Amino acid sequence: MTQLAQRMSQLGTETAFEVLARANKLAAQGRSIINLGIGQPDFKTPAHIVEAGRKALADGHHGYTPANGIPELREAVAADIEKHKGVRVDPDDVVVEPGGKPTMFFACLMFGEPGAEIMYPNPGFPIYESAIRFSGATPVPIALYEESGFSFSAEEVLARITDRTRLIIVNSPANPTGGVVRKEELDTLVAGLEDFPDVAVLSDEIYGRMVYDNQPHVSLIGYESLRDRLILLDGWSKTYAMTGWRLGYAVWPKHLVEHATRLCVNDHSCVNAATQWAGIAALTGPQDAVDEMVRAFDKRRQVIVERLNALPGVRCVRPGGAFYAFPNIEGTGLTAREAQDRFLAEAGVATIAGTSFGAWGEGYLRFSYASSIDNIREAIRRIRACL
Ligand SMILES: Cc1ncc(COP(=O)(O)O)c(C=O)c1O
Repeated sequence: MTQLAQRMSQLGTETAFEVLARANKLAAQGRSIINLGIGQPDFKTPAHIVEAGRKALADGHHGYTPANGIPELREAVAADIEKHKGVRVDPDDVVVEPGGKPTMFFACLMFGEPGAEIMYPNPGFPIYESAIRFSGATPVPIALYEESGFSFSAEEVLARITDRTRLIIVNSPANPTGGVVRKEELDTLVAGLEDFPDVAVLSDEIYGRMVYDNQPHVSLIGYESLRDRLILLDGWSKTYAMTGWRLGYAVWPKHLVEHATRLCVNDHSCVNAATQWAGIAALTGPQDAVDEMVRAFDKRRQVIVERLNALPGVRCVRPGGAFYAFPNIEGTGLTAREAQDRFLAEAGVATIAGTSFGAWGEGYLRFSYASSIDNIREAIRRIRACL
């Protein structure tokens, strides 16, 4: 028998991919499936971005690039951050990676080890807890509260910091809840963190362009006092409907850039060269497709929240961002897993159990509204029929 390293037993997964496989299998058997489980835009990558990638291949961009990304792309990222977040960053602090996920993994590997603690949102993106456990560190969950639109309490986070805390992960707007943390809460967190200068922060802002109700997106990179220990995670996957291209970036504090780049060299050498040129076209080209997509998500958000709230035993807060609704289903008498399985098997509607995002997701179900309004209406109609 081969003998695996013990840490392999610590690695979690993203159930969304398993549900997708089950939904596809049912669809292949001829069942009508509405997939509200998948966390990716249902839009195509805008044509001018695809063209830039195609042209890069035709122009011969076939080789390795610098591990941290081509300078033109890192400069475009810095300009984009200045435009959208009003903050100047040094392009040399930007590290281009194959998606947003590697940043989580790298940050956890950099700070996590047995004896260390890393705080993360729960319910939250499942890879946070998985990467923390894999690093050997102890995951310390940060509760998110339905009553406050799935925000955390900054006071509570600060109170749970110990001398073993190395890193705090923040995600706003959030997956799976669609929650947006209010500026006042972030102000309190950042002010309190001044008492803990050794604690780093990873701010996952991959849904930063998807904030509704005329609210601004508040980025943690705007807080000067955090700059030397803030890792900003962002990317193209959601904003430009580019999940399969595998392109993301992080802005690292200067003293961590070398470590992050070394992890890139060890892990993947560099991001696919043509994809990087497409990424430049995305940031510097017309943004109408992004605006249109966000407007479409906003309309769907209104429809799904209204319809979910009309279901017996279900209540749903209005998510402030991303493209997820996270209704409380306790009143149906079903557990999250039972609801997920029943809705897929009986109604042909794929959703994801809240428990896939951490133990504190029990009693909730994640609906992705990256699907047409007709699909959303039909999905909720079918769910009503099997409740
Ligand atoms: C909160 C959050 N961060 C990061 C990612 C990863 O994005 P990428 O596909 O760019 O790795 C996701 C993807 O679902 C996400 O929901």
